[in-house]
Amino acid sequence: MQFSLTDSPIQDVEADAAIGFLDAEATGQAWDSLTGGLASRLVARGELSGKPHEAAVIHGPAAMRAGRLLLSGYGAPTGDSLVRLRRGAGSAWRRLRATGVQTLVVAAPSASAGAAEVEAIAEGVILSDYEPDAYKTSDRKVSALESVTICAKDVDSGVLDRAVIAAQAQNRARTLANEPGNLLPPRVLAERARELARERGLACEVLERGQLEALRMGALLGVARGSSEPPVMIVLRYRPPGETPSGSVHLGLVGKAVTFDTGGISLKPPADMDLMKYDMAGGAMMIGAMDALAQLRPNVPVTAVIPSVENMPGSQAQRPGDVVTTRSGTTVEVLNTDAEGRLILADALTYANEQGCTHLVDAATLTGAIVVALGHEHSGLFSNDSAWRQRVLDAAATAGEQLWPMPIGTGYTKLLKSPIADLANIGPRWGGACSAAAFLERFAGKTPWVHLDIAGTAWFEENLPYAPKGPSGKGVRTMVNLAMALRPD
Ligand code: BES
Ligand code: MN
Ligand code: ZN
Repeated sequence: MQFSLTDSPIQDVEADAAIGFLDAEATGQAWDSLTGGLASRLVARGELSGKPHEAAVIHGPAAMRAGRLLLSGYGAPTGDSLVRLRRGAGSAWRRLRATGVQTLVVAAPSASAGAAEVEAIAEGVILSDYEPDAYKTSDRKVSALESVTICAKDVDSGVLDRAVIAAQAQNRARTLANEPGNLLPPRVLAERARELARERGLACEVLERGQLEALRMGALLGVARGSSEPPVMIVLRYRPPGETPSGSVHLGLVGKAVTFDTGGISLKPPADMDLMKYDMAGGAMMIGAMDALAQLRPNVPVTAVIPSVENMPGSQAQRPGDVVTTRSGTTVEVLNTDAEGRLILADALTYANEQGCTHLVDAATLTGAIVVALGHEHSGLFSNDSAWRQRVLDAAATAGEQLWPMPIGTGYTKLLKSPIADLANIGPRWGGACSAAAFLERFAGKTPWVHLDIAGTAWFEENLPYAPKGPSGKGVRTMVNLAMALRPD
């Protein structure tokens, strides 16, 4: 797909279709000269009101070279206007996508629109172009989109390139998260990471069972016991060009990748268990981020650590009450085998620290409790360092992705007492997302660390105007912004 910018007014650009946005007052008048007055007539007759995701198509607009014009509202001028624009461009494109449009031109929403608006439009089109129907043998909703031109003045084309890279990486993460458990066990996820590394020039190391045993990653290995699919620890490394000063900032991205979570012996109920194929969305997020970062080349080293297992019951599976020894030496009583994410992340966080990471972010579909607390809008953010927390919040705000700060601390840590081992892997029912984060905190150690619980946000539960039901890829662009904003010292 080809993206370009032009200074030309939208009416001069040849394309199958054009997207235009209504102004804040939604009178339509701004479009009357190009549509022979049709725009304000559509508004006057109630066919167009400026409400978000409401749109009307004008075929053969009088004074335009494009074959048709989709005029779209994108909501009242409140809230984050870039989020509205990203979604507005997305819903507009999904309307046109269904009709086989190949060449598209999009007008920036106002004359004052700049880099941020161009970014939002490009991302909106790419993200809304995603369809989760990879395994249909007929009626696939294949996109015909070949080229997109965005009309905006004085915007550097590098801005557009970066937005395209980040949004395409986000779609790559979605494709991974959508893969069914049978087709993407840990070793296949590792193969996908290797392919990415080859494609983008990253270093990739896949630690296999023997190595994990030698490294005494007892928590990760314990979860893997129930499955005939072997566990892996995937490590992707990006290094900036030139010498990295010693003591440099080194970002560690840790992602939970349980390729399918049955719960293990603490088996989950059958309803919606199929969705547990997306229990590797944290790992997919970090692989997607590395895809973009390999191309955007931040100034600091970035290491992604992705522990991957399948959580299954079976005669070899770990039992409730089993005690495992983590790589850090801390022992854990596994009271519930369904609290497996924190077990594999414990060993991964220790490993990331050993790799020299100075700042850590982990992302995990960790708890149902975070969905109770925050629903599907915000991901939960937990941290042991207020400055690092703020940097992640800033990166998310720029990406238009929503995070909400949640607490950890001794009050939650003490919920994880075990009579037999150093820690239990679950606490009481209430505050389950916080006690899970408190568990992870022990393994992050003193390193500035942020934990993102994405259980409620990694999957769109229903079709949206700008995205189909399925994987969201949320978090990829936050990680990209975060890494790009870091400096070596
Ligand atoms: N993968 C689940 C969490 C999850 C739930 C993700 C819903 C997405 C949607 C995790 O491994 C899990 O099973 N957590 C348990 C923890 C409990 C046993 C303490 C949960 O949340 O029920
Ligand atoms: Mn589980
Ligand atoms: Zn899980």
